[in-house]
Amino acid sequence: MSKTETINQTMVTEFILLGFKTVPELQIVLFVVFLGIYLVTMAGNILIATVVFTNPNLHKPMYLFLGNLSILESCYTSTILPRLLASFITNYKGISFNGCFLQFYFFAFLAGAESYLLSAMSYDRYLAICKPLHYATLMNSMLCIQLSLTSWIAGIVASAFTTGFTLQLTFCGHNEIDHFFCDYTPLLRLSCSETQQAEIVMMVLGSACTMPPLLLTLTSYICIIMMILKIPSTTGRSKAFATCSSHLTVVSIFYGTLIIVYIIPKSSALKGLNKVFSLFYTILTPMINPFIYSLRNREFKEACGKQLRKLYNLRTTQET
Ligand SMILES: *[C@@H]1O[C@H](CO)[C@@H](O)[C@H](O)[C@H]1NC(C)=O
Repeated sequence: MSKTETINQTMVTEFILLGFKTVPELQIVLFVVFLGIYLVTMAGNILIATVVFTNPNLHKPMYLFLGNLSILESCYTSTILPRLLASFITNYKGISFNGCFLQFYFFAFLAGAESYLLSAMSYDRYLAICKPLHYATLMNSMLCIQLSLTSWIAGIVASAFTTGFTLQLTFCGHNEIDHFFCDYTPLLRLSCSETQQAEIVMMVLGSACTMPPLLLTLTSYICIIMMILKIPSTTGRSKAFATCSSHLTVVSIFYGTLIIVYIIPKSSALKGLNKVFSLFYTILTPMINPFIYSLRNREFKEACGKQLRKLYNLRTTQET
């Protein structure tokens, strides 16, 4: 069927998200697994945001970025997982036209913002470790606010553009999206209008949202690792190295899979794996970031413990 032939067909008012094609018995297993992931992600991120927010001595750039990241990630997983969980138990796969675009808008906004925020965090660590004498003057509260605000705004703007462009396309005939959420590439594939322009917009905005942050992050971590290698004590060196390499690993997985899915032109072999790659940046990163960034940090762990003890004391005094 050619694209012009389909124009006369009925307009799409609802999409079907095919999700993961599995046997029914596996649906319940997937439900339990993803529910566990969702609960861990939300608990970890909300705990971090609360601890940062309520502890005045954690009001330093590093922790403020972390607080922002946690809030962002709680919203980010919530755009995708609850809908997926519901479809596992109800087996209902439909999503309204507007619902689908709303999901894509929030997903793209938060993914873009996360991408910038992660690079701001690595820049902050770079200044702290490689320019310790100038850290306080360079990373002042003004710059910290500017960097966090810019991340959020960049996400909002980039996503508004891509969503706007996709909304100009006509959707008629086929409405089955072979994915577990409303994503750009599967949506374009369904459209019956010419998608070339929309593909270019995606390429440009996708690159703008991933390449500069990725380069900044890589440069920061390379400088940090070179600095660490100069530390004379072996234990100090290996500890700092472990922290850094774990940050670097998660960050690279996040940017790497985003780039594979959105920027690299698709060969058919990669196309089939898109769903799997998407799992990394939509579900894996938000779940492990809280552990990687905060639970290895002594200052943060102490603040967390104090917070939990305070909560516990509050409960016991109320009971007596
Ligand atoms: C997010 O960042 C801003 C600016 O740095 C800060 O004022 C705010 O408290 C942060 N939010 C959280 C929850 O940490």
